[in-house]
Amino acid sequence: MKRYYLLTYGCQMNELDSEKMAGILEENGWDSAENLENADLVILNTCCVRAKAEDKVKGKLGQLKKLKLAKPRLLIGIGGCMMQQDNVGEKFLQQFPFVDFIFGPHTMDRLNEIVEKSCTGRVLELEDDRFDVPRLPIKRESSFRAWVSIIKGCENFCSYCIVPYVRGKEVSRPLGEIVSEVEEHIASGVKEVVLLGQNVNAYGRDTGKVDFSRLLKNVDEVPGLERLRFMTSHPRDFSLELVDAISKMPRVCEHLHLPIQAGSNRILKKMNRGYTREDYLRLVEYIREKIPGASITTDIIVGFPGETEEDFALTMDVVEKARFASAFTFLYSPREGTPAAILSDQVPREIKKKRLNYLMERQNKISLNYNRALIGTLAQIMVEGPSKKDSEIYMGRTRTNRPVVFPGQATPGSLQDVRLTDCNTHTLYGELQEALPNE
Ligand code: 5AD
Ligand code: SF4
Repeated sequence: MKRYYLLTYGCQMNELDSEKMAGILEENGWDSAENLENADLVILNTCCVRAKAEDKVKGKLGQLKKLKLAKPRLLIGIGGCMMQQDNVGEKFLQQFPFVDFIFGPHTMDRLNEIVEKSCTGRVLELEDDRFDVPRLPIKRESSFRAWVSIIKGCENFCSYCIVPYVRGKEVSRPLGEIVSEVEEHIASGVKEVVLLGQNVNAYGRDTGKVDFSRLLKNVDEVPGLERLRFMTSHPRDFSLELVDAISKMPRVCEHLHLPIQAGSNRILKKMNRGYTREDYLRLVEYIREKIPGASITTDIIVGFPGETEEDFALTMDVVEKARFASAFTFLYSPREGTPAAILSDQVPREIKKKRLNYLMERQNKISLNYNRALIGTLAQIMVEGPSKKDSEIYMGRTRTNRPVVFPGQATPGSLQDVRLTDCNTHTLYGELQEALPNE
């Protein structure tokens, strides 16, 4: 049997696309390989949000070139957002002559034909945007968690971001289709659903029909679902009414990922984010009031062009006030074709790094204190499976999306009560509580 190996870079959307690629390949007679060396076909699913992701792909291509020399019949393909950028697909085909095919997020559904064609000649198959992408088979990585795409594309055009150029216009999936996909997942044993979109709050804006809040309510009511999550939200579009609505939906978890990006109003404006620090902090406060115990996580970019020490201090001030459970922090990375990349006042790399280190250090302390405050309490976790390092230790997540490790074993996807006993910056430690005997 022919075997494939997929390498995925970037966000959950790419992870979901990779699950679909695996689904298409397996429907067409391919089997998964345990490692690169055993594969007859290797596909890189790329990301282009930051330059670092591109560097990683180029590094991997160096390794693949050697593999192909040793095994000339190996097929190598590249897909994903990076290929969809202006001329990048064409450039890669020229620059890497050992690559057999290139495709993008809008042509992924034709993967099987593309692979077949590439056996007889090199293939480049990209399209600008498509509205008729069909439902694709999925090979899920997790037995109990399913990602469900609800809206594709993004029209926010934050001035630093390449996503709107590569993922295209916002297109919402019909409500009925989403709900029936969720029902199918639940019938196959799924307990947790994560609704995905670059900006989930924009759901329904293009159709003028059901909005995000109504969609959530419909999914929340699907029988058999234990936990419902969604990402990513845009603080500008996250209304107080949505917070009220969520607070009444029992399956929606008490975790919200709300990227702030920067804490200075001047920088937020230059980023084209459409909210102020005051708006953001008001939203955080409202969430804490209406959804007790909610964890809030965020994304922060440091070193956006023109960011001064004062601007950075304002970011730090929001970090102190919002007390995020955790934060993804990034150095600003200029992306060709975005308005911010051509601004003249780029921040020197050394300064960006210094600010990032300072931010990370401070956020780590806040995350540690956040975890410490939970020690001694009981939490319900959904078990994920054995921890990566030690098969005697299992791992699960709280509804607030905090990872908890515990000694002993439990069925993946099952809900367990744990007493939290210890923690470090990113992990909580707990002990399984004995289930109470049925009366
Ligand atoms: N530079 C650095 N970080 C970026 N992000 C998006 N574009 C850039 C960029 N050009 C970050 C944002 C976003 C996350 C997915 O990636 O914080 O929320
Ligand atoms: Fe990029 Fe902004 Fe769209 Fe997020 S909302 S994908 S940061 S343009």
